[in-house]
Amino acid sequence: MDGTFSDNDISNVVEADRARVWHHLIQHQPFFTGADPRIIVEGKGMRVWDQKGKEHLDAVSGGVWTVNVGYGRTEIADAVRDQLVKLNYFAGSAGSIPGALFAERLIEKMPGMSRVYYVNSGSEANEKAFKMVRQIAHKRYGGQKNKILYRDRDYHGSTIASMSAGGQDERNAQYGPFVPGFIRVPHCMEYRKHEQDGAPEANYGEWAADQIEKVILQEGPDTVGALCLEPVTAGGGVIEAPEGYWQRVQEICKKYDILLHIDEVVCGVGRTGTWFGYQQYGVQPDLVTMAKGVASGYAAIACLVTTEEVFDMFKDDATDHMNYFRDISTFGGCTAGPAAALKNMEIIENEELLANTNAMGARMMDNLRALQDKHAVIGDVRGKGLFCGAELVSDRDTREPVDEKKVQAVVGDCMAQGLIIGATNRSVPGKNNTLCFSPALISTADDIDAITAGVDEALTRVFG
Ligand SMILES: Cc1ncc(COP(=O)(O)O)c(C=O)c1O
Repeated sequence: MDGTFSDNDISNVVEADRARVWHHLIQHQPFFTGADPRIIVEGKGMRVWDQKGKEHLDAVSGGVWTVNVGYGRTEIADAVRDQLVKLNYFAGSAGSIPGALFAERLIEKMPGMSRVYYVNSGSEANEKAFKMVRQIAHKRYGGQKNKILYRDRDYHGSTIASMSAGGQDERNAQYGPFVPGFIRVPHCMEYRKHEQDGAPEANYGEWAADQIEKVILQEGPDTVGALCLEPVTAGGGVIEAPEGYWQRVQEICKKYDILLHIDEVVCGVGRTGTWFGYQQYGVQPDLVTMAKGVASGYAAIACLVTTEEVFDMFKDDATDHMNYFRDISTFGGCTAGPAAALKNMEIIENEELLANTNAMGARMMDNLRALQDKHAVIGDVRGKGLFCGAELVSDRDTREPVDEKKVQAVVGDCMAQGLIIGATNRSVPGKNNTLCFSPALISTADDIDAITAGVDEALTRVFG
């Protein structure tokens, strides 16, 4: 371990945490029956150290696909510090130097897009997009075109409205009732097409997109304002849409005058090997939301990016006192976010991390395929760039998912080895069976090989 904290005795911190912190997404009972909460103390590059000084190789960029440029980037910290002492905050009705400069850089990476709206979480960015769609419906279509379509297995956030667009029933369970006007369309997961009535052997991508059109026709095209999709479904199973899907989606949106909202909260800023996931598929969205990798977690920042056409709808008539986007996000005015995001983008460019993501992503897929040859429990491997999944099944023919406890056992075995991997969790009922890998874009071949070697060991121990 090179980097390094010397004082390992932070038992007071562990006790304060156990007594007072309510962690995200976990059951706390084990902390009162012998287990300690995990405290991550330090990070450098691809690695983090916990309260016991134990080193971990992080194959999930901070647990939830965020720290894209790796830990310990002093240049980002310096840029944030310099900005904070100059101006930490002013409400977003005014501009800021890093806000303007980052918006300009970001739009350079997004041909066809035009305007950046700053907020501070992925859920919030999606909520803002939904609000825009609703306001456009009121302004342009007498309130009619207000429905928002979302896809089975996709996720768009943790707030009640973003959960209303949530295609993960286990994640949503017990949090209803939800907001009206959000309509589900079927997933496009080829590996599980046998569970969809009428799914064809050939041209599944087009068929899956046609299912969206069916829903639009059922609902009435003049009631549907937007379609919200992840470019690659993340927590729902790392699902890349099949060939033919996106082209049809774009045609359908054009045909029925439906805004295409792409949720790039996970894929945005490099994860799949292009700046944005949708750019892999030649799609031209109307609204794009992004968060996690925008500043790699060095500061909280999320953005909603729109076309000029969408922006125009909110400024076309200045005599109407209601005719603008009447929305605010207090912390969308924090300058640390765009200051960090500017440096983050510079690092990706200077270190050619998109090319590295493509090369290391290909290596990760090759390694996972080799594991699939060795372990019958791996039914499918899939991914794009440094965003990969391995779906575990108890029977390759029926594709029956393995017991989720076993999936968690694999994750736990890796953790014991000092390797942090992810798995779909409390997402789709009975189908939380996909191991997830999203190491930082700085991954080396050795890192990738170490990740898959650890998974190999874990699979051998758990499944024999
Ligand atoms: C695709 C997607 N959209 C939105 C969100 C919500 O982002 P946040 O947790 O920043 O609100 C997430 C979070 O995991 C996500 O994966």
